[in-house]
Amino acid sequence: MSKAHFGLIGLGVMGENLVLNAERNGFSSVVYNRTFAKTETFLNGPGIGKSIRGAKNLQEFVDKLERPRRILMMVKAGAATDAVIEQISPFLQEGDLLIDGGNSAFKDTERRVAQLESKSFGYIGMGVSGGAKGALEGPSMMPGGTKASYDAIESMLTKMAAQVEDGPCVTYIGPGGSGHFVKTVHNGIEYGIEQILAEAYDLMKRVCGMNGDQIADIMGYWNSTEELSSYLVEITEACLRTKDSTDGINVVEKIMDKAGQKGTGLWTVVSALELGASVPTIYASLNGRVMSSMKTQRLKAESILKGPPVKTLDLGSFDDGMAPLMDAVVLSTISSYAQGMELLRKASNEYNYKLNMPSIAQIWKGGCIIRSRLLSRIQDAYRLDSKLTNLLIDPWFAEQVNRRLPGLAKVVAGAAEVGMPVPCFSSSLDYINSYRTGRLPQNLVQAMRDCFGSHTYERIDMDGVFHTDWIK
Ligand code: 3PG
Repeated sequence: MSKAHFGLIGLGVMGENLVLNAERNGFSSVVYNRTFAKTETFLNGPGIGKSIRGAKNLQEFVDKLERPRRILMMVKAGAATDAVIEQISPFLQEGDLLIDGGNSAFKDTERRVAQLESKSFGYIGMGVSGGAKGALEGPSMMPGGTKASYDAIESMLTKMAAQVEDGPCVTYIGPGGSGHFVKTVHNGIEYGIEQILAEAYDLMKRVCGMNGDQIADIMGYWNSTEELSSYLVEITEACLRTKDSTDGINVVEKIMDKAGQKGTGLWTVVSALELGASVPTIYASLNGRVMSSMKTQRLKAESILKGPPVKTLDLGSFDDGMAPLMDAVVLSTISSYAQGMELLRKASNEYNYKLNMPSIAQIWKGGCIIRSRLLSRIQDAYRLDSKLTNLLIDPWFAEQVNRRLPGLAKVVAGAAEVGMPVPCFSSSLDYINSYRTGRLPQNLVQAMRDCFGSHTYERIDMDGVFHTDWIK
């Protein structure tokens, strides 16, 4: 029997769908799962009648693969990934290639690339976004590692990826853990946009008294605009329209208000802090999830801490698409992308990843969770100026900021007056206002530091380092 082109370890929903995707694109496959029962269920179910075979153990798995072997691991990030690498390594031969398609921490991937490449195996750390449907129909993929390893799988990945007007949603990201780093930041941006849409929903529901279908109509309208047309707005509309079949009540209203997380949003914020990148919108979304999980405390505090007496808040009307609220959503979404891209730029310099910013925007245009029409503008902005320091100052984005800032300010001020939390909107407003301020008050911070700790300061009227005896 001829050897298969491609091997998959880990038959979770993402693994299953990726192997079906590979097979559909002409790559015969072998699958291995820790429990063979799962393999059998898959082969007799979605895998039936396809060029996909199973293996009971790793020896059989590698024996069924053509050389050099191309093996995708879709297992839990962390210790489980290390365990699989350790188990399969004795069966690998020079030139064989392991691909980690999970959400691994990029520093783990750095270590694994160095470790595996030193044994003459290839190793690719690849971010995969698109959820279960994307994995099956065409995800966005962010592979990092050596260029030689990428070249060995390029033809397969370009066929499997989502396709947009200017090509497949996959490209060589860069060395080491760069692929997983880019996926981590992708998820940080995703956290931001999810929280932004949740804040808009909360204001429309609690301040304007709109029901699920009315809010969904606004989402539908926003999704028809260039600025907000995106997968996340599209699924928000779908979520808001879904009714419980038993009583017709919106399912969203029955969901516990505690958001989970698997780590990538946290890693984005930690990396930003380490690299000195400013990501307040993304941080606010992460903190929103942390605060949401404190349900018992919040319920207790609700009866003790009183907000201002509720007033009305002008968020626009149904007919103008809730114009000021749309301004807030657009500018906060732009802030989330701008902060993520800025973090990528800093990481690229720090870790020598040589990230190609227009290409990253391009591969996010299809298949992934943050796909949106804005990404074409982001791609254009970095094509126009490959060294762009911040998206906000690109001419198209600057025009958006200048036009929509009053709307964002109005929403944040109004939300504060009625006592509604809008962490991403307010962080984005502060982010933009800080970024557009040539002289910030940190001169006074420097004075205080010098006063109590002789930390010295620079002056704007002469060169040098200065200290003042502040308290005579
Ligand atoms: C994922 O990569 O699984 C999701 O896109 C985001 O993860 P989380 O919201 O569960 O952290």
